[in-house]
Amino acid sequence: MSQLFQPPAAFAKTAHIKSLAEYEKLHKFSVENPEAFWSEQAEKCFWMKKWNKVVEYSCPDAKWFVGGKTNLCAHAVDAQVKAGFGDKVALVWEGEPMPEGKPEIKKLTYSQLLVEVSKLGNVLKAKGVKKGDVVTIYMPMTLDIVVAMLACARIGAVHSVIFGGFSASAIRDRIEDCKSKLVITTDGGWRRGKVVPLKTNVDEGIAEGAAKDLVKTVLVYERIGGDCATYAAGRDEKVAPLLAAASAECAPEEMDSEDLAFILYTSGSTGKPKGIMHSVGGYMVHTTMTAKLTFDLKPEDPSEMYWCTADVGWITGHSYVVYGMLPNRVPCLIYEGAPDAPAQDRFWDIIARHKVSKFYTAPTAIRTFMKWGEELVTKHDLSSLKVLGTVGEPINPEAWLWYHRVIGGNNCPIVDTWWQTETGGHMLTPLPGATPTDPGSCTRPMLGIDMAVVDEAGKEVPQGEAGILVVRKPWPSMLRGVYGNRERFIETYWTKVPGLYTAGDGAKIDENGNFWILGRIDDIILVAGHNVGTAEVESSLVAHPRCAEAAVVGFPHDIKGNGIAAFCILRGAYPQGAEAEALKKELVAHVSKQLGPTCRPDKLFITEALPKTRSGKIMRRLLRDVAVGKDITQDTSTLDDVAALHKLAAAAKQG
Ligand code: WTA
Repeated sequence: MSQLFQPPAAFAKTAHIKSLAEYEKLHKFSVENPEAFWSEQAEKCFWMKKWNKVVEYSCPDAKWFVGGKTNLCAHAVDAQVKAGFGDKVALVWEGEPMPEGKPEIKKLTYSQLLVEVSKLGNVLKAKGVKKGDVVTIYMPMTLDIVVAMLACARIGAVHSVIFGGFSASAIRDRIEDCKSKLVITTDGGWRRGKVVPLKTNVDEGIAEGAAKDLVKTVLVYERIGGDCATYAAGRDEKVAPLLAAASAECAPEEMDSEDLAFILYTSGSTGKPKGIMHSVGGYMVHTTMTAKLTFDLKPEDPSEMYWCTADVGWITGHSYVVYGMLPNRVPCLIYEGAPDAPAQDRFWDIIARHKVSKFYTAPTAIRTFMKWGEELVTKHDLSSLKVLGTVGEPINPEAWLWYHRVIGGNNCPIVDTWWQTETGGHMLTPLPGATPTDPGSCTRPMLGIDMAVVDEAGKEVPQGEAGILVVRKPWPSMLRGVYGNRERFIETYWTKVPGLYTAGDGAKIDENGNFWILGRIDDIILVAGHNVGTAEVESSLVAHPRCAEAAVVGFPHDIKGNGIAAFCILRGAYPQGAEAEALKKELVAHVSKQLGPTCRPDKLFITEALPKTRSGKIMRRLLRDVAVGKDITQDTSTLDDVAALHKLAAAAKQG
C-alpha cells in the first residue's frame, strides 16, 4: 500500500542532503565509523576544551566526548554573538490575547538574550544556586522560560522543567523526586482566554509533604500582574527587581561533557513519571546536528522562520525550541496559548503573520484541525511554508495526506520524526531534501543512528514483520539514566533484548527500508496468535469519513485470547439509537474490509473525548479498564481531562 512522495526537486537542489543516495552513503559511513562521524559533528559545536575520546561505552553506560568541556548556553548564545550575529533575532514570541485583533509580539536578538541569561544567572547565583543543584522551572510559554533554562545551563545548574499544564501534585512529586530547592515560576499565563494560576499551583504543590521543607526560594516572573499571585515572606520573590539590579556579566561555567545537563520527567502514559537524565556534550552535538538536517535549516536565508508548537516543558521544546535550535541561528517562534484562541484558525493566522517556513506539530493537533475544517486554513496565506514536521505519535496516513495537501499545498516535504524524551533528539526521520516519504512511516534512521526491528533474542525479524524497535549502538544524546533509580533504568530500557536499547515501541520495516511504528509494545494486541498494532487499526478507523479520531486496546477474550475494543470520536453529528448502532457496524465492517477479519474490532464505542496525557498521547492503559467495564482505580495524575474519562467509562458500562 506504499505511496511514495519524492522531495520536491527545487527543494532538494539546495538542501543540505540532496538525494536518497547521498543520505544512504552518509548513513552507511556514519554507522560504520561512528567515532569519525560524531567527532566531525562535534567539531561544529562550541567547546572550551576539546575531548580526548569520542565515546566510551559499557552497555548501558555511555560517555561521549570524554574529557571535553563546554557549556550549553555558551554554545547556543555566546558563540553566535562572538561569530558576529548578535543583532540577529533568536526568538520571536506571540502572546495569546488579541486586544483589538492584534497580539502582543516580542523579539530577542542573540545579544539581548545573552544579557537576559547572564542577569538571571547572577540572580540564581546570589540565591545560592551552585553547579549541580536542581532548579525547578514551572512557567508558561513566554520568552522567560527559555531564559530560565539557559540561565541554569549557564551556571551549571540542572533544570527540571515541569509542563505548565500540570497540577500541584505533579509539581510536588517531581520536586520531591529530584530534591529541588529553588523554583522559578510565573504568576500566571494565558490559555484559551483564561489565566492559568501557575504561582498558586506552585504554592499548593509545596504546601505539604517533603516539598514544603525542601523549597527555600520561589522566584516569580509577572506575566499577568495585579493580585494574580500571593507572595510568602522569606520564600517568594518577584524576579524583575532582582534582574534590574543584576550585572549583565556572568561567565559560563565550564561543564564536563558528561556533567548532568537536565532532568525531564517523561509524560508517563504508562505509570509513575521517570526523571530522564541528559548530559551536556552529547546532547549539544546531537540536537544541533539533527535540528539542522531534519528541518534543513538555512541561517543565511532571510526567509527562514521556524515554529514548533510543542511546549518547552516537553523534550520537543527542550531540543527543538531551545538547545538544538538556537545554535542554528534560524529565528524560532514561540506562541503562548491555545490553537483555538480566539478562533480555531489561530495557528494559520500566526503562520501567515510571521511567514513561518518550517512548522513542527503533533498528529493529535493535525487530527483536530481536520475536524475543525479546511475552510479555516484556506482563508490564510500559508505559502511561506517549506517543511512540515510531526512528532509524538504515529501519524495515520489520512492525517498525513491532509497535512500535506491542506497545510503544505502539496509542496512541502513532511518530516515524521520518531524519537523520545530518552533519546534526546531525532532518531528516525525523513530528511526533507533526500528521503522519499510514505504517509504514516517515519522512514529512515538519522545519520549516526543504528536502528533495527528485532525479536526477543535480538535477531532481525524478516521484512514486513512486526518486532521490537531497538537502537543497536550508543548515540550522543542518549539518556544517561533515570534519576535516582538505576534499577528502573536497566529494567525499562535494557532487559527486553539483552545488550540493545529498547524504546518500548513495536515496529516493522517495509520493502523500501522504511520504518513503521506500530505503537507501544505494551499496546500490541495478540489476537488469535496474530500481533495487531493499535496504530494500524486506529489508522484504518480514521480513514473512514465519519471517524475523526480513534483509540484501540485489547481485552481478554475467551476464544481469541484477546479481543479488540475501539473508541471513536466522530466527525460531524452524533447519531442516536438505531442510527448509532448502524454506524458502529459500518465502522467495524470498514476495518475488517481494510485490514482483514483478524483486526476486526469486537467492541466499538462512540465517544466525544479520549483520555490523553497533556502532551496529547492516548492513555490506552485507562481504556483497557473502560473496555471491560472496570472501575478506574489507576493513577490519572498526568491525564488531561479526568471528567471526560469518567463520562466515557459510564457510557461504556451501559454498553
Ligand atoms: C511515540 C516525544 C510514532 C513513541 C519526542 C515514542 C512516535 C514516544 C513518534 C515518545 C512518531 C514519538 N511516530 N510514534 N513520529 N514520535 N512517538 O517521550 O511511542 O514524549 O516511544 O517524546 O512517542 O514520547 P516522548
